[in-house]
Amino acid sequence: MGQAEAERDESLKLRQIADKITEAPSEAGRDEAAKLRQIADEIADGPTQYEIIKTCYGFLSTKIVLSAVELDLFTELASEPMTKEQLEEQLGLHPRCSADYLDSLVALGYLRREDGVYRNDPVVDKVLDASKTEHYIGGALEWANEHQYQTFGELTETLKTGEPQSGYMDEDEMFDELYEDEDQADAFTSGMAGLTSRVANYIAESFEWEEYESVCDVGSAKGMVPVTVAEKNEHLKATAFDLPELKPISEEFISKRGMDDRVSFHPGDAFEDDLPRHDVFVLGRILHDFGLEKKKELIRSTYEAMPDDGALLIYGSLIDNDRRENVVGLMTSLYVMVDSEKGYDYTPKECQKWLQEIGFSEIEVRDIPGPETMVVAQK
Ligand SMILES: C[S@@+](CC[C@H](N)C(=O)[O-])C[C@H]1O[C@@H](n2cnc3c(N)ncnc32)[C@H](O)[C@@H]1O
Repeated sequence: MGQAEAERDESLKLRQIADKITEAPSEAGRDEAAKLRQIADEIADGPTQYEIIKTCYGFLSTKIVLSAVELDLFTELASEPMTKEQLEEQLGLHPRCSADYLDSLVALGYLRREDGVYRNDPVVDKVLDASKTEHYIGGALEWANEHQYQTFGELTETLKTGEPQSGYMDEDEMFDELYEDEDQADAFTSGMAGLTSRVANYIAESFEWEEYESVCDVGSAKGMVPVTVAEKNEHLKATAFDLPELKPISEEFISKRGMDDRVSFHPGDAFEDDLPRHDVFVLGRILHDFGLEKKKELIRSTYEAMPDDGALLIYGSLIDNDRRENVVGLMTSLYVMVDSEKGYDYTPKECQKWLQEIGFSEIEVRDIPGPETMVVAQK
């Protein structure tokens, strides 16, 4: 029996004792039973010793998978299953480490091994093979490996000072600095596209697009949302609005998906320039990069640029209203604090309050399958 099961077993036994004492006629016996039941619940609900260790050493499994993406392991195995020796040669792996490394990926469920031949798990094969561009999410992991993994290692410093550890000390300049290096801009926006493709499909399929003619995604990165929404709704014209540095990257992405006729890139700074008029605006994972003042400024700009029957869609890994369940939302907020000067994530309730203040009338919160939430606001 594993340690986790042993602790659950212990909790069960305590419960049984508590139930026995409850049958006792005396009040003292019943009080005792209540206390025991509370202890049993605490054991069962909180993390077990094994779970604490697993979480604290989670960085080992994280880095094992991120290195596999960095080494193109899943892409190589997607083209052809290979033995340990073939993989050593193909990826330049040292024989001292290769067996334990590859078998760790087997134990983590990412690879399968039969008769000494390694192949990808089917889901891994679909989403981590870089040649399957439509499904590939490895761009996000490449960015995590190159940038986020190191930056988040400095979390304690941010917790004590409130200051970012990424080097982006000013919220007005954060993205300009990020895009100074073209390769970095490409890595970041590829990461965003990978993270957002699933959400983009949900938005494209679930929103009432038939009631509108145009959509503008503000802070669109490569343009995953406008391209996907336009692909699935043939009557729509879509605009990807982002900083001018992203023009070549975004236009290349739009062209590759064959959407130049209905999706265009509009270069601009959402805090300096007027937004182009559109029926629907999207703000995806952008509000959390900024402090409250700029969050509201962005929402207000979309309000002013839409007609009276326009709508705004806000999505991201929002924190649940009770602030105890959406661990991805809470962790993303902490990451944003390490990465940016004033950014933080927020609950749908907070977002609703800002939207009402600005003048939006009907506001609806829609759960997207997975850790993301979408807030839909009608003018
Ligand atoms: C965290 S990314 C989110 C990208 C995309 N919406 C998604 O969900 O994948 C934030 C985006 O906002 C853009 N952005 C930041 N400041 C901006 C500004 N002042 N004007 C226009 N876009 C901006 C960034 O370039 C980046 O593409």
